[in-house]
Amino acid sequence: MQIRQPIVAVLGHVDSGKTSLLDRIRGTGVQGREAGGITQHIGASFLPTETIKETCGPLYKKLEQSENKVPGILVIDTPGHEVFTNLRSRGGSAADIAVLVVDVNRGFQPQTNESLKILQSRKVPFVVALNKCDQISGWRKSETSFISQAIKEQDASIQADLDQKIYDVVGTLSVLGYQSEAFYRVKDFKSEIAIVPISARSGVGIPELLSVLVGLTQQYLQKRLSQEEKDPRGIVLEVKDEVGLGQTANIILIDGSIKKEDSIVVAKRDGVIVTKPKALLLPKALDEMRDPRDKFKPTPQVDAAAGLKIASPELEGVLPGSTLYVARNDDEVTKYTNLIESE
Ligand code: GTP
Ligand code: MG
Ligand code: NA
Repeated sequence: MQIRQPIVAVLGHVDSGKTSLLDRIRGTGVQGREAGGITQHIGASFLPTETIKETCGPLYKKLEQSENKVPGILVIDTPGHEVFTNLRSRGGSAADIAVLVVDVNRGFQPQTNESLKILQSRKVPFVVALNKCDQISGWRKSETSFISQAIKEQDASIQADLDQKIYDVVGTLSVLGYQSEAFYRVKDFKSEIAIVPISARSGVGIPELLSVLVGLTQQYLQKRLSQEEKDPRGIVLEVKDEVGLGQTANIILIDGSIKKEDSIVVAKRDGVIVTKPKALLLPKALDEMRDPRDKFKPTPQVDAAAGLKIASPELEGVLPGSTLYVARNDDEVTKYTNLIESE
């Protein structure tokens, strides 16, 4: 079966290390350029297969044997600050699977719980990344990027300390109705949430985190990611006027494909608009859409899942969070117009 890229939302309390984790995987420095080190928008970036392969190293061998290999991942970065609940929800509603980032020394915090509620209400499966392991007092830095190995290199008391922190998370999740375990103790990934200790700073544990994510996706999400009989649709992240482009919308294309000659059907405050894109612009792989290193590239067609920019004068006034449909003919325009008006 042909499956699309999974959309992986990264959620968690403010400063738990969501952007740093993505920076580490992408080789970018987005977090360091944020005002106050605080994420204030939803971001998106594409991780190609090559990056997954490099990050997972020898763990990729097993993933590669799957019949439903993921053709890369679209990651969504969300803000953890309490005022951005709407953005977390938006990220959660686009997600096929999620990473809930928890600071190992702080455990569950208010927006960790809130993020979990969002995932719960949308039935989004998730993995817990227990971040900042390098900050566990007495933690010894090691050469390996595999957390299973790094743990073995710690003193017994540090191992016990980490175990205790993992069990605190297991306990919290259990009260909330989830069974969970450290990923190396998980027997059934369908019924237990995997907890992966990592450090976004040193990179340790990221190979295992990504392997668990991709493994889960390939095993349990084929149907959701299959593109058979899926209406092409996306979600609007942000609408803005850009020099040289005019009105643009950053969107996540969730299913299907969009061509330049297609019509976009989307709600505005005072009704539905139907517009043809002036341009479809794709960020470079590994570039964060909200802070790209390179220019977006004009392209005739974009296939889901992807983050892209659509330029069209009529997009002015479209509300972020709106669903956007792609129509290929008049019948489809009518169909989606009716759909939006009935919502
Ligand atoms: P918001 O998006 O604002 O909610 O924060 P965030 O979850 O994206 O966290 P961010 O990446 O901004 O990291 C917050 C701070 O923690 C920064 O100073 C990072 O350098 C630091 N940090 C992130 N991960 C780690 C880690 O693994 N180890 C250590 N020591 N510091 C980390
Ligand atoms: Mg951030
Ligand atoms: Na931050």
